[in-house]
Amino acid sequence: MPTRSASRIFVFGRSKEPPVTYKKRTHTCGELRKSEVGKTATLTGWVDSRRDLGGVIFIDLRDRYGKTQVVFAPQHNAEAHSSADVLRSEFVLSVTGKVAPRPAGTENPDLPTGEIDIEATELNVLNKAETPPFQIEEESEASEDIRLKYRYLDLRRPNMQRNLLMRHKTYQAVRSFYDRNGFVEIETPILMKSTPEGARDYLVPSRIHRGKFFALPQSPQTYKQILMVSGFDRYFQIVKCFRDEDFRADRQAEFTQIDVEMSFVDEADVIAMTEGCIADVFDKVMGTKITAPFPRMSYREAMETYGSDKPNTGFGLKIKDCSSVVATSSFRVFSDAVKKGGVVAGICIPGLVNYTRNQLDGLTDYVKSIGAGGLVYMKMHVEKIENSVEKFVSADESAKIAAAVGAQAGDLVLIISGAWQKALTILGSLRLEMANRLKLVTESSWNFLWVLDFPLLEFSEEEKRFVSVHHPFTSPKEEDVSLIEKDPSKVRARAYDLVLNGTEIAGGSIRIHHKELQSKVFSLLGIADEEAKKKFGFLLEAFKYGAPPHGGIAYGFDRLVMMMAGEDSIRDVIAFPKTSSAMSLMDDSPSEVAKKQLDELHIRIV
Ligand code: AMO
Repeated sequence: MPTRSASRIFVFGRSKEPPVTYKKRTHTCGELRKSEVGKTATLTGWVDSRRDLGGVIFIDLRDRYGKTQVVFAPQHNAEAHSSADVLRSEFVLSVTGKVAPRPAGTENPDLPTGEIDIEATELNVLNKAETPPFQIEEESEASEDIRLKYRYLDLRRPNMQRNLLMRHKTYQAVRSFYDRNGFVEIETPILMKSTPEGARDYLVPSRIHRGKFFALPQSPQTYKQILMVSGFDRYFQIVKCFRDEDFRADRQAEFTQIDVEMSFVDEADVIAMTEGCIADVFDKVMGTKITAPFPRMSYREAMETYGSDKPNTGFGLKIKDCSSVVATSSFRVFSDAVKKGGVVAGICIPGLVNYTRNQLDGLTDYVKSIGAGGLVYMKMHVEKIENSVEKFVSADESAKIAAAVGAQAGDLVLIISGAWQKALTILGSLRLEMANRLKLVTESSWNFLWVLDFPLLEFSEEEKRFVSVHHPFTSPKEEDVSLIEKDPSKVRARAYDLVLNGTEIAGGSIRIHHKELQSKVFSLLGIADEEAKKKFGFLLEAFKYGAPPHGGIAYGFDRLVMMMAGEDSIRDVIAFPKTSSAMSLMDDSPSEVAKKQLDELHIRIV
């Protein structure tokens, strides 16, 4: 019996990879240059385009590596030329011929192979293709639904190939970084216990255990904490997560995280390791140098300055508080908001004094559509301040508000009042809306930002109880633990989110590692002892046996690649994504299943 030899496996793992060789082709379609003129080459690939110029047929042959022009002319080979007559878009070919320089004036400087042609002497049609429902080209005019239905064709487009190659490179850079830093990649189960918190679970019925269900992981959170209890010290995994929630351009039902957990650390350790990984990935994948440490901001400052917990700090239009100057205003909307503990705040948009009535009505409709009672505006004319509530707000008061928001002649001021979170969030959205209208958002810079000091809990009006801002395993700040029972809403979490150009790309925290504190937080969340035991008993049980202090983070892998690729939707960096209504158009899922399958699972559709 052969024995397994650890040393052989080790040597094999380290051995240099053999060079890539091709048996059926001599070169790829992106490879040939002028230096190869005179050689005979065989290329394989798809017909990208075909032009018949009176007896001479030109084909652009395409593969993953690029495009090469192939010329079929009777003088090169009569048989190949006449066979080329049948060629159509997306036929799969093998072509042999001589590499020739393109005639002067016909070179294509936009194509790396643009200085040469292949003069075809042999043509093999490896497969025919029906006319594709859309042209395979860099920028597709086809609707996204059509692109998703025929995803295999969509993925032939050069930009989709580039995106997936970038995704591949990002996996490799991330794995190499964490491996070099002593992290162990460990897979955690896809079939796990349902522990609903946050999003809705995807459930999988058990055939063997009637009436019981697995859930697909929303994240491997509990497992990675248990791996710390097991002493692995540093864990990472590039892992699929599943959340049955409403989708947006940056959300999918199944998405990928870079999941990380570390023992014996505090916030600074996790943050520094994350910055190291980001800098390394940007360098390796894009050749871009990123400067760390990244700026930091408290949740409060982010909300009060940008109206968002994931602010885009790449442009100004900062929010300014004017609550104190309107606290005693005769305009009740303002003074009542302040009396009730809310805010009156505004943004000043330089040079927009001539915004039309129509444009302002549009803005008012916009803020109302996101929950505002209304919008107050002030136009800073040279001779006077025109305000939209002149009946209630005097010229003197207008001047004070203008000073508070830093407005000058020529500016437009937009003001929102209301409860702290709601008013600021609306202003945050209005700020982004104005930045989009004024094209202030530049894609050229990388604005990383850590948002810290989140509240541990927020009160859900819907559920009439406190819910976790992050998740129930997040540790409160030590200095706030005493507030847990007295004033839960004031307790700050040891949590951190990483924001890039206004998109949350990672989030994590230092965890609770004491059973007693974890039970206390569960009870604050309205999770009774019995229920906690049922849902998270295994974690509490594990904490009995020497849980080390630990913390971690998870990056949204798709979001990170989306931003690096300069795309607006994570669907463009996922090979087979779902639509915004959580369907896969290519394989038409979800779909109905046979009654027999349902019977085996003890399920009846009502
Ligand atoms: P969180 O829920 O913040 O934390 O998720 C981490 C990161 O994952 C990305 N993300 C998503 N990306 C695409 N589609 C989705 N539906 C989606 N939901 C989240 C975001 C987010 O920042 N277990 C914790 C992490 C931890 O505490 O270590 C967690 O999952 O970029």
